[in-house]
Amino acid sequence: MTRFVCRDCGLDFDVNVPRWRCDCGGLLDLDFTPHLDPDRLAGRPATLWRYREALPVPDGAELTLGEGFTPMLPVEIGGREVLVKQEQLFPTGSYKDRGAAVMMAMAAHIGVDRVVEDSSGNAGCAVSAFAAKAGIRCRIFVPADNSPGKLGQIELYGADLVPVPGSREDTASACMAAASDCYYASHVYNPYFFHGTKTFAYEVAEQLGWKAPDAVVLPAGNGTLLLGAHIGFTELLGLGLIDRMPKLVAVQSANCAPLCAAFEAGAREVSQVATAPTLAEGIAIGLPMRGEQMLEAVRETGGTCLAVSEEAVLAAFRDMGRKGFCIEPTSAAVVAGAAEYVRTADADEVVVTVFTGHGLKVGDKLHKLAGGV
Ligand SMILES: Cc1ncc(COP(=O)(O)O)c(C=O)c1O
Ligand SMILES: [Zn+2]
Repeated sequence: MTRFVCRDCGLDFDVNVPRWRCDCGGLLDLDFTPHLDPDRLAGRPATLWRYREALPVPDGAELTLGEGFTPMLPVEIGGREVLVKQEQLFPTGSYKDRGAAVMMAMAAHIGVDRVVEDSSGNAGCAVSAFAAKAGIRCRIFVPADNSPGKLGQIELYGADLVPVPGSREDTASACMAAASDCYYASHVYNPYFFHGTKTFAYEVAEQLGWKAPDAVVLPAGNGTLLLGAHIGFTELLGLGLIDRMPKLVAVQSANCAPLCAAFEAGAREVSQVATAPTLAEGIAIGLPMRGEQMLEAVRETGGTCLAVSEEAVLAAFRDMGRKGFCIEPTSAAVVAGAAEYVRTADADEVVVTVFTGHGLKVGDKLHKLAGGV
């Protein structure tokens, strides 16, 4: 039976009772056994729900806006072919829909009628959209001085915006306080979110003919995709659907690279580092809550951590545009990381990466970033 399990003390909890952390304060994972028979996938819809038996949501509780099974296209990056999952094509414009679909399906299943979340970015958009689809009221906590960015999209889905004065941490604290009597639909704490993002790995494996790539280059902000991919590939290996783990390569902005610093120092935990503003706002997380888990995922798979410069991000953004892809600057950081990775990778490695978000999200900024005056 599926249970929440504390990463720190091992205590387990009923998943039908809302909870976002252990009584000891520890982070929760899911103890869940996936099943999947690839022969049964033919004819199923091209959404992430095709992996139904591998998803920890009861039958009949599916919630969908048509998300998932994104194309994986060969794109020239760093002078060679890299396979790129087109996650900018999701209903809300980013891969966060993977996590939100599964998390909100479970929330609706257990009878939740109100949720809170703290994210002014793509996670906020995704949670708001799936809350709208499920008919669940949604409040999104954002820093009061937040630039408009994605707030309009969040409002469009009918969520209430709650501006919080002070720092990003103050916003998180206000949201956690609200979560004492309301479901915390968190993309960082809620393990159902990661069991949504894990479908990225299932799709990559299916699209490669049930094979693992050699390396997967992913963003590393809070690690929602990195950890989801790690869960997914681990499950696929356990199910015998792939025969080895791909290396997971985590990309950060050099201006905000706590994971890279910890990786290079050989540390077990991630510590706060000095940061500077970056074009890659979506991965600018000074202290990721699941940092230790992210480090483990990278190390266990024989992967690495790469930090990319602002110049490399902008160059990758423009390069992808000239190739016909409109992606977020944050996504361009991952492309820059992939270019850096393939510079030293073996020529015959199958390398997969991802366009995480749609460029139209940055609105007015597009003109300047594209090279306009
Ligand atoms: C466009 C985009 N790319 C990448 C990320 C990286 O996030 P994470 O490391 O949490 O998966 C984000 C997070 O908001 C994002 O919005
Ligand atoms: Zn605990």
